[in-house]
Amino acid sequence: MAIRQLDKPAPEAYRASARQWPTGVAVLTTLDGDDRPHGTTINSLTTIALDPALLLISLRATSRSVAHILRTRSFALSVLAHDQTEEARHYAAPNRAQGAGSPLGEQSRPGPLTGCALLHRACAHFECALDSMQTVADHCLVIGSVLACSAQDTTPLVFSQGMFTSPGAARTASIG
Ligand SMILES: Cc1cc2nc3c(=O)[nH]c(=O)nc-3n(C[C@H](O)[C@H](O)[C@H](O)COP(=O)(O)O)c2cc1C
Repeated sequence: MAIRQLDKPAPEAYRASARQWPTGVAVLTTLDGDDRPHGTTINSLTTIALDPALLLISLRATSRSVAHILRTRSFALSVLAHDQTEEARHYAAPNRAQGAGSPLGEQSRPGPLTGCALLHRACAHFECALDSMQTVADHCLVIGSVLACSAQDTTPLVFSQGMFTSPGAARTASIG
C-alpha cells in the first residue's frame, strides 16, 4: 500500500506521543578542553549490538558534549539509580557550573580507560570509544564502542511522561 502524503504532525502531538515512551536516565561524561570532567543528562541511550558491543546516543548538535567527544573520541555513561533525580536535574541545567566549579569531580571517579567521570552510586557504567557520529536534522547520532561496563543491583531511575519515577513493582514482573 502506498503511503498517503499527510501534513507533518503538529510538534505538540509529536512531543505528547514521544512522552509516552519511558526511558532510563544517564549522565554522559566527557573531558573538556582543559581535561576537566563535563556531565550532561541524557535519556536517548539505545543499545545497538551485543557483539561487538555498540550503543547509540542522540545529542542536540549544540550540546557542548559533541565537541568534547569529537576532540577526545571517547565518553562514558553512568546510568542513574532511582534516588539520583538531583543529579539528573543538575546535569541538565543549562547554567550549571562548569570546570573547576562543577561538583562532578566529587561525585565521581575517573574511568580507568577513558578518564571520563563515572558517577558514584550509579546503576551501571559504560566507557566507550567513539565509533562514528552522524548529523541528522539538529541532532548528532553518536555510536560508541563499549570498552568496559559494569552493573550494580540497584533500581534505575525512569523518565516517563516528563517526570522522574522509579520502576518499583516492575522489578517483580520480568518479561522473560
Ligand atoms: C531527562 C532528560 C533527558 C535528556 N536527554 C537528552 C538527550 O538525550 N540528548 C540531548 O542532547 N539532551 C538531552 N537532555 C538535555 C540536556 O541535558 C541539556 O540540554 C544540557 O544542558 C546539555 O548540556 P551540554 O551542552 O553541556 O552537553 C535531557 C534532559 C533531561 C532532563
